[in-house]
Amino acid sequence: GSGKFFVGGNWKCNGTKDSISKLVSDLNSATLESDVDVVVAPPFVYIDQVNNSLSARIEIAAQNSWTGKGGAFTGEISVEQLKDIGCKWVILGHSERRHVIGEDDQFIGKKAAYALSEGLGVIACIGELLEEREAGKTFDVCFKQMNAYAGKFGHTVSPSPPVDAVPSWDKIVIAYEPVWAIGTGKVATPEQAQEVHVALRDWLSKNVSAEVASKTRIIYGGSVNGGNCAELAKQEDIDGFLVGGASLKGPEFATIINSVT
Ligand code: G3H
Repeated sequence: GSGKFFVGGNWKCNGTKDSISKLVSDLNSATLESDVDVVVAPPFVYIDQVNNSLSARIEIAAQNSWTGKGGAFTGEISVEQLKDIGCKWVILGHSERRHVIGEDDQFIGKKAAYALSEGLGVIACIGELLEEREAGKTFDVCFKQMNAYAGKFGHTVSPSPPVDAVPSWDKIVIAYEPVWAIGTGKVATPEQAQEVHVALRDWLSKNVSAEVASKTRIIYGGSVNGGNCAELAKQEDIDGFLVGGASLKGPEFATIINSVT
């Protein structure tokens, strides 16, 4: 694997003050391996509650952010506000934002570049639909989504950007989440995930740099649970997980965190 194991819990649009208080207390009392970066992403309205009660061992991510500075953008939340309230990360390009809400590559890339420019870490999600996988287009789709992020970060295949336009990749975690595996209970096999992670690392090497390719964490998401995490974590190029449903259960989320090899 590359870099420190990274496990994110994406709570999506779930929870109440009471259920979140219970989840935080379960996480606070869990024993977590030290060699893992752990992040949770509560719904916006509960971020402050979580920040005030969760152990500092676990960092907080938002599930979305606006493309630029705040202002007259009804219903949006700015990167500056997220930093103000204690977020260190933001999840962008999640399949639910792409396919349910309708966000496109350009919009997502713009959000990611802005968040990075303001010092927030970005969990940049990509992944193919079932029909795209069945049509043999998995790599094409993932590379196109990668290209949209990288282009906004100042990396395009041609022409090469000036070096000072390129942000650090230290704060970017790539989350490969095949859409057919999200919330379906149909996890990718370790071989299926590994194959795409290798291709993504190769893409980074060719389009960004060998150093970025070797250091960037590429995590897997889609029906990861306490029972399947260990086999996935053994794969050479799986550097962690982005967990949805199973991150709502403290003890199971701890098992996934502790699957670091
Ligand atoms: O962001 C998390 C992914 O969408 C995975 O969700 O673990 O419920 O399949 P899931």
